[in-house]
Amino acid sequence: MGMSRLCYLNGEILPLDEARISPMDRGFLFGDGAYEVIPAYDGRPFRLPEHLRRLDQTLEGIRLPNPHSHAEWAAMIARLLEAAGGGDAGVYLQVTRGVPEVRDHAFPLDARPTVFMTVSPLPAPLGPEAGEGASAIRLRDNRWGRCDLKTTALLPNVLLRQEAIEAGADEALLLRDGQLTEGAASNVFVVCNNEVMTPRQSPNLLPGVTRDFVVELLRERGVPCQCSAISADQLARADEIWLTSSTKEVLPVTRLDGEPVGDGRPGAFWRQARTWFDEYKAAFAAGE
Ligand code: PDD
Repeated sequence: MGMSRLCYLNGEILPLDEARISPMDRGFLFGDGAYEVIPAYDGRPFRLPEHLRRLDQTLEGIRLPNPHSHAEWAAMIARLLEAAGGGDAGVYLQVTRGVPEVRDHAFPLDARPTVFMTVSPLPAPLGPEAGEGASAIRLRDNRWGRCDLKTTALLPNVLLRQEAIEAGADEALLLRDGQLTEGAASNVFVVCNNEVMTPRQSPNLLPGVTRDFVVELLRERGVPCQCSAISADQLARADEIWLTSSTKEVLPVTRLDGEPVGDGRPGAFWRQARTWFDEYKAAFAAGE
């Protein structure tokens, strides 16, 4: 892919290993910041307006004024992607509440937000011919009450994902009060009795950009998709389970707590969604 590791920090593009942030940064001290991960296909950021709208929602939710307009963000992201050499890549961006003189929980009066972005290669997604999917375990969702905000304070997500990894699985599927919320770093779809469903939006899950895209993709092509409560029982009986995220796109889960999901292979609904996703992506990358 020929991408040099570059980053953007407070107005400047520079090699990542030359970037310096103060240890007094509130992102470091408190996890006091917002972030986004935006996939780019052939150098073009995918669903950029949706990601920037969600960034606005997160910043509003944590009461941090957005230091840039959408047009400025778009220009900064384009500049960074171009400097990084285009191709398929993931743009990571974060905004923190900046660097105060002294550590104090209360918002600083003297700090300007820190703006950081970097670009990484995107892992190759699993194609429709995939023989095997991902594995997941179920865990209790012990996160806070504003999981709809994409904040950098991700310690619960980190611990949940690590528990999945140590159980030999790829992702944790989270249940709160007997209902499925999302994955540690992904949204979830299930197929039950030929019906595609995903948990209804609430403060307990991230409004995933990929999730909304997949719902739209299915509905436009005549496959109904319900956004509704999904019980632990429905999850346990699902014929198919999929994960969606900006880096995973749409990924089938074929083992849940060591047991096969459906027949243990990626399902027919997933294969269809994957194919439509790929077609859309190819057209997008070609500039259509
Ligand atoms: N995570 N839910 C959680 C908790 C997430 O962290 C993510 C994405 C998603 C999917 O959202 P989207 O489709 O907008 O990427 C859902 C990113 C990729 C990350 O933290 O790396």
